[in-house]
Amino acid sequence: MISIDTVSGHKKKPISVVAIGAGNRMRTYMHYVEQHPDLVQLVAIVERDAIRRNAMATRFAITRQNIYKDYEDFFQRPVSADAVLICTPDDEHYRPCMMALERGYHVLLEKPIAQTIEQCEDIARVAQEKSLIVCVCHVMRYHPCFIKIKELIDGGTLGRLISINHIERVGLDRATHSYVRGIWNRAETSNPMVLAKCCHDVDFLLWITKGRCRKISSFGGLRWFRQDNAPAGSAERCVHCQVEPSCPYSAVNLYLERHDWISNFDVPDGKTLDDVIRQELKDGRLGRCVFHCDNNVVDQQAVMMEMEDGVTISLSMDIFTQQDNRQISIRLTNGEIESDEQKVKVTYFRERRQETFDFSGVISQPYHGGADLKIMEEFVQAIRGSRHHLPSAISDSVESHRICFEAERSRLAGRTIELN
Ligand SMILES: NC(=O)c1ccc[n+]([C@@H]2O[C@H](COP(=O)([O-])OP(=O)(O)OC[C@H]3O[C@@H](n4cnc5c(N)ncnc54)[C@H](O)[C@@H]3O)[C@@H](O)[C@H]2O)c1
Repeated sequence: MISIDTVSGHKKKPISVVAIGAGNRMRTYMHYVEQHPDLVQLVAIVERDAIRRNAMATRFAITRQNIYKDYEDFFQRPVSADAVLICTPDDEHYRPCMMALERGYHVLLEKPIAQTIEQCEDIARVAQEKSLIVCVCHVMRYHPCFIKIKELIDGGTLGRLISINHIERVGLDRATHSYVRGIWNRAETSNPMVLAKCCHDVDFLLWITKGRCRKISSFGGLRWFRQDNAPAGSAERCVHCQVEPSCPYSAVNLYLERHDWISNFDVPDGKTLDDVIRQELKDGRLGRCVFHCDNNVVDQQAVMMEMEDGVTISLSMDIFTQQDNRQISIRLTNGEIESDEQKVKVTYFRERRQETFDFSGVISQPYHGGADLKIMEEFVQAIRGSRHHLPSAISDSVESHRICFEAERSRLAGRTIELN
C-alpha cells in the first residue's frame, strides 16, 4: 500500500518495524500498527514465550523465517526494517538497543532506557553519531492533561514558576502486582523503584520547568512488605493463608475475585482464564504472600529537588493509596495549577478567577488515555520525515534518568547530592 506524506507530498511506502518482546506494552503499540497499515507494517517478531510469539505472529501473518525466540538470534540473522520496537524487561533494554543502533535501525525504546547512567549516555551517543532516532516511551509527554499543564506554564500568564508538589500515587494493586510480587521487585534485576516508576514523573517535571537540577535529596525504604511484618496465621501463599479473607493485599482477591491486573495471564488452548489464575496462585510468583516475597525495592520514597533557577520540587512516590493517579500542585507568581490527571484547575490571583479543564473523558480511554498510540504516531512520523523533533527523544530523556539514579544514590548515602 502507498501513502502520501502530508508534509512533503511525496508518495511513501509504510515503514517496517520489528517487535522485540511481545508482552503487555508491545500488544498496546500493535493496536496502532493494526489501525494504520498504510503507515507502518510489522515484518518480524522476537519473543521468548511461545504463546505470545505465536499469538502475535498469527495476528499479523508473519512468515515463519521472520519469527525469532530471542533478540540475540534476531541480530545474528536480522531482517531488513526501518525500526525495532523494544519492549523487553528493564534489564534487557541496553543490549538489544545498542545492537539495533549498530545495525542502523531506529528504535522505539520502553522506559527505563537502561540500568546505569553510563548505559543511557552510550545509547544517546551512538544514536547521535549514527543520526538514528531513539524514542523513549515517556507517555506523560503525549497525554492531553499533561500537555495542557505545560501549555499553561509556557503561556506566561501565570508568571514565573516558584515550586511544585508532585505526588505519584502508585496504588496498592499496582504496587503489590509489580513491585512486591512482580518482575520489578528487585533493583538488581530491574531498577531502583524511583527509576522504574518515577522516571516518567521526573521527565515531566524537567519538561515543564525547562531547567536543570542542581541539588537532590531523597529518603525512603522498604518498611512494610517484609517478612518481619507478616501477620500471625499468614502463609507463604495466599491460597494457604488464614488471614487472607481480611488481607488488603490478597492475590486471591486481586486476580481471582476482582480479575484485576490479569492482562499478563496467557491462556493456552484448552484452559480458561480462571484455570491459569488458580495455577499462578498455587505455584507462580504472583500467588506469593506480600510478606514472604524476595522483594528489595522501596515501598515509599520522597525526593526533593532544587533547580538551577531556584524552583523547588517535592516528589513523593506513595504506594499506600487505593487509586493510582498523580496529584500535582504548581505555584507560580500570578496563579496556581492543581491537577489530579482528570482535571486541571487554574487560579488567577489578581482576577480571583478559576478556570477548569476537564480530561475525565480522556483518562478513561484505553492505552494511557490514548498517549501510547500517540507515541507510535509521532515515532512513525519522525521516521517518515514529517516530524523534526520528537517530544521524547533520547537526548531529552537521559537527564530524567540521571536525576533518578542520583535520587537513589542520595537515599542510599543519606546525603544531599550536588549535580554539576
Ligand atoms: N511506558 C510505560 O508507561 C510503561 C508501562 C509499563 C511497562 N513499561 C516498560 O515496558 C517494558 C515491558 O513491560 P511489559 O509490561 O510489556 O512486560 P511483559 O513482561 O509483559 O513483556 C516483556 C516481554 O519480553 C519478552 N522477553 C524477555 N526477554 C526477551 C528476549 N531476550 N528476547 C525476546 N523477548 C524477550 C518476555 O517473554 C515478555 O513477553 C518494561 O521495561 C517496563 O518497565 C513501560
